[in-house]
Amino acid sequence: MRNKELIEKLKIERALSHDEWLQIFDTWDADDLAFAIETAREIAVDRFGKKIYFRGIVEFTNVCKNDCYYCGIRAGNSECQRYRLDEEDILKCCADGYAHGFRTFVLQGGEDPYYTKDRICVIVRRITEEYPDCAVTMSIGELDRDFYQALYDAGARRYLLRHETRDAAHYALLHPAGMSIESRMRCLKDLKEIGFQTGCGIMVGSPHQTSEHIAEDMMFMTEFKPEMVGLGPFIPHRDTPFRDEPAGSVDLTLLVIALTRILLPDALIPSTTALGTAEAEGRQKGVLAGCNVVMPNLSPLEVRKKYMLYDGKVGTDMSAEAGIRTLRVQMEEIGYEVIVGRGDFNDKNSSIWEGRHR
Ligand code: 5AD
Repeated sequence: MRNKELIEKLKIERALSHDEWLQIFDTWDADDLAFAIETAREIAVDRFGKKIYFRGIVEFTNVCKNDCYYCGIRAGNSECQRYRLDEEDILKCCADGYAHGFRTFVLQGGEDPYYTKDRICVIVRRITEEYPDCAVTMSIGELDRDFYQALYDAGARRYLLRHETRDAAHYALLHPAGMSIESRMRCLKDLKEIGFQTGCGIMVGSPHQTSEHIAEDMMFMTEFKPEMVGLGPFIPHRDTPFRDEPAGSVDLTLLVIALTRILLPDALIPSTTALGTAEAEGRQKGVLAGCNVVMPNLSPLEVRKKYMLYDGKVGTDMSAEAGIRTLRVQMEEIGYEVIVGRGDFNDKNSSIWEGRHR
């Protein structure tokens, strides 16, 4: 089958075989990309209209015990100036965000042992009590099941944990000994079982990544059915072992985004900061390829530049307010409207949609 036929098949069956995925990633051309994007956009517009959900992200600590080879805040980067926001700082970010209309707060940080289960749960509980109409999303890495359960009990309902790659050997090339794909999968499974809306995802074009790996990632997502998927190009950071590796391609990232939208029509897929960093119009292109979320930064200006996962990260010189304004304008430029509200994962319209398209 030709690639376009495979994309049609994906739209109907919501699955492809490993070899079919592999064919697409090995042989796609500009026409196939345009077709995937068009198909994905149609699905997204059909489901969500030209509406983009806003999530406010608070990067509350850049201390991390892990040493992932790609990441600028890895433990081994002695150039990185470390910071932690305290409870009051975090609540202040949420108050600012709330005033701007945000109803979802994403608390993201490195794997920072200072934030014990008790400490972080106190913060989550305060946010969910002060803002009962808001959703709290956590993105703080690999933790015990108990810890995840405690976060859920404190009121968090969503969790982002990219799997980075489904392939064990590739995973081992991106992470030091001591981190493993088995552990990552255990976490994702626990999160789903506890009841979190769960996000996985990859960096497109990460070092040593092959078409085979991306095919495996698509197979994994088919089975795991994440409610959210984070996808961005790999971008090297100068103080990491991958400093000389090439950045991932924007077009391949858009292809993966579009195919993910076709595979998972209801998923919440952010147009990521990495995409906006790789290319000035990257975030708009992401939306036009099927993304339905953007995540402006609510962190205090003073700490922005310290949360540098990769070189050149956009938005680090802008106040929360200016960042929000920029994103709003970017979305309006392409005819999309930014909407506030919780924007939970919702697939209750699936049957209507299937009726229309099958
Ligand atoms: N380039 C792009 N994305 C990166 N991340 C970490 N480092 C980089 C980089 N150099 C992504 C990872 C991680 C998320 C928080 O940021 O996929 O899961």
